[in-house]
Formats: sequence, C-alpha cells, structure tokens
Amino acid sequence: MAIILPDLPYAYDALEPYIDAETMHLHHDKHHQTYVNNANAALEKHPEIGEDLEALLADVESIPADIRQALINNGGGHLNHALFWELMTPEKTAPSAKLAAAIDATFGSFEEFQAAFTAAATTRFGSGWAWLVVNKEGKLEVTSTANQDTPISEGKKPILGLDVWEHAYYVKYRNVRPDYIKAFFSVINWNKVNELYAAAK
Ligand SMILES: [Fe+2]
Repeated sequence: MAIILPDLPYAYDALEPYIDAETMHLHHDKHHQTYVNNANAALEKHPEIGEDLEALLADVESIPADIRQALINNGGGHLNHALFWELMTPEKTAPSAKLAAAIDATFGSFEEFQAAFTAAATTRFGSGWAWLVVNKEGKLEVTSTANQDTPISEGKKPILGLDVWEHAYYVKYRNVRPDYIKAFFSVINWNKVNELYAAAK
C-alpha cells in the first residue's frame, strides 16, 4: 500500500472564475502529487509505523526522528490538500442550522466569522493555512498554521481550511492574496464543513 493522490471531486474548471483551471491543474497534479510522493518515500523507510497519517500527525513525537519533519511537511501536505479539494464546490451550499448557531455564538455573526478567518488568512506570513477548527473544548476557533502543519498536531479538528501558499493563488491573483480569500468564500462546500462539524462534536 501507499498513499495515493485522490482525484478532484469536480472538473478542473468547475470552480471558475473563482479558482482557475490552470491553478487547479498545477496545484493538484504537481504540488499535491509531490507531497504524496515525498510522504511515501518517508513512510517506506519505516514500514513498522503504518500509513495512518492522521494518527501519526496527531502525535508527532511518535514519528521516528529521521522522518519526522518529512512527514510533518509532506504527510501534512497530503492531508491538508486532500481535505482542501473536498471543501470546495461549484454548487450553492450553506452552513447547517447547528453550525450557523455555533458560528453566531462564537464570533457574533457570520460576517464577523468571515472577517476573523480572512484576517487569519491574510496575516499568516509566508506559506501556510487558515483554519476553522473544533478545539479540545469542543468550541469553534479560527487559527492558522505555518507551512503544511496541520491543526491535528495541536489536538484540533479542522472543519474548514484555506491554503494561502502562493502556489494556491499566484497564477490568477498574483500578489493580491485578499482577493483570493474573498473568492474562496464563493466556493466553500458547506455540506462538507457541516459533516465535519457534526463528526467533530
Ligand atoms: Fe497547496
């Protein structure tokens, strides 16, 4: 067994004009594939630890030292991207009543949640991700991580994530990360977020 690059759950141009087909090809076929290849290369050195990346990254100290950083980077890169593709859709979706109520209770309103998420995505310096997670107390929290670090390593369950590496937006949005963040909100797959929220609670 090895980790396999999952197919996109929609066509490469399905998220146009918000996320362009050229970006989706590069991002999925090249960048994500590279994380998969490098994660497999690391895992092959230690067949005894298995291939359950979520379990391994939930306890990074358990990963053999010689492949620890490679798995944080590439195992995390695989998990983050596999989730990211599922978090977008060309279809019109909306937060469930339960999630909407939790967002209102935590942030005050959906608009305030969007502002907090946008701030996290905008101010993450360099490469990383912005997240909406369910934290250890079972509460919603907006956070961000550097590089391909996953909130799973902090004991948090990601339910929404946005890749803010330049490779995710530079083809279309150039240096204007805020426009990409705004566009992302037009293609969020709330059905998937609702499902992850229900499972995380
Ligand atoms: Fe990416």
